[in-house]
Amino acid sequence: MGKASKNRLFVAAILGSIIWMAQTACTREHIENVNPVCFETDVLPIFQSNCTQSGCHNSVDREKGYDLTSYDKIVSKGITPGDYKGSEIYKALVVPGGESMPPAPYGRLSDEQITNIALWIEEGANNTINCGDSGNCVTDNVTYNATVKPILQKYCTGCHSGGAPSGNISYATYNATKPTAVSGALVGSIEHAPGYIPMPENASKIPACDVEKIRQWVSLGAKND
Ligand code: HEC
Repeated sequence: MGKASKNRLFVAAILGSIIWMAQTACTREHIENVNPVCFETDVLPIFQSNCTQSGCHNSVDREKGYDLTSYDKIVSKGITPGDYKGSEIYKALVVPGGESMPPAPYGRLSDEQITNIALWIEEGANNTINCGDSGNCVTDNVTYNATVKPILQKYCTGCHSGGAPSGNISYATYNATKPTAVSGALVGSIEHAPGYIPMPENASKIPACDVEKIRQWVSLGAKND
């Protein structure tokens, strides 16, 4: 193959990818979801775990006027129901060039978290609560990897992970999690038990069933299962 035709192929490949990306972007304009996003379990924890650290968007510091600790406060500024692209809070999550919220040293939200927020806004930014299946809390077969780790990632690792985790406690890995599980501080803090600092900081308790699952895992020896 001559040099010119190789170049042409290359250009065609690039153009192909650009068109593909443009099409993907278009389909994303009209995001639809069969199960509406649940504010209480899919959106509020993202804000509470990633945005309300000391100096940030809690009720005391209200950085840039944003308090992201509860439904009423979240929808009072920066959310345009039905228009995620026009919502300042969404825009702050997707700034190019590493400038997105949360700022360093905290990591950018995951694509799934950003999508949940976008969908929730698109669906009307409603205060959807109690969207769980039945109210039955099943604590059989609770394990670290399948049960506990996802809960901690949802509600805690926004503050408790990375190079300088809050309170010098990380919940990023099993080894990091084990000490406060064994000492009782993990369960004490999420139960808001006397003598422990209530967690998550600046937020309401995590769902009772999640507390129950963590308590069960700890009582069975906090194993790396
Ligand atoms: C918005 C940030 C933030 C979130 C979210 C958060 N924490 Fe914390 N956590 C802190 C800070 C800050 C401290 C240190 C507080 C202090 O020492 O005054 C702390 C301390 C703790 C402690 C020590 C408590 C004690 O009494 O010694 C535990 C245990 C803990 N967190 C567990 C959790 C768990 C479990 C979650 C999730 C359910 C969580 N935290 C969510 C910021 C947070």
